[in-house]
Amino acid sequence: MTDRELVEKALAMRNFAHAPYSDFHVGAALLCADGRVFTGCNVESAAYGCTICAERTALFKAVSEGCTTGFSAIAIAGQGQEYCWPCGACRQLLYEFAPDLRVLAAREDGSWQESRMGELLPHGFGAAHLK
Ligand code: THU
Repeated sequence: MTDRELVEKALAMRNFAHAPYSDFHVGAALLCADGRVFTGCNVESAAYGCTICAERTALFKAVSEGCTTGFSAIAIAGQGQEYCWPCGACRQLLYEFAPDLRVLAAREDGSWQESRMGELLPHGFGAAHLK
């Protein structure tokens, strides 16, 4: 799975977004160590706070199917000319499962920028703090 292919999957997943309130359609694709890719989209709620982002949808799908370690990259695609970086809540969850995760933030034209979770959430709080 190339980075380009992962970004293409994230772009395609925007078609499944349920975003009647924001009309901002987001897709995500999370690559696991064994080559499996878990995809997600944002799912909005009339009670706005219940909304879940595309990244967390993908992560929770992976975890709920037994894939909890070895994530190598996530691609995220939104709309417009801004690169779609993960929100604060998604940074926290992704950091906990994969602090070295490569994050590919794409924009509508298919171009992307790359960063690492550890850079997006410096001094992040994780399981080690609770030991
Ligand atoms: N959203 C995502 O799914 N991922 C992001 O990285 C940014 C925001 C969603 C949440 C909400 O449904 C809509 O985009 C507007 O915030």
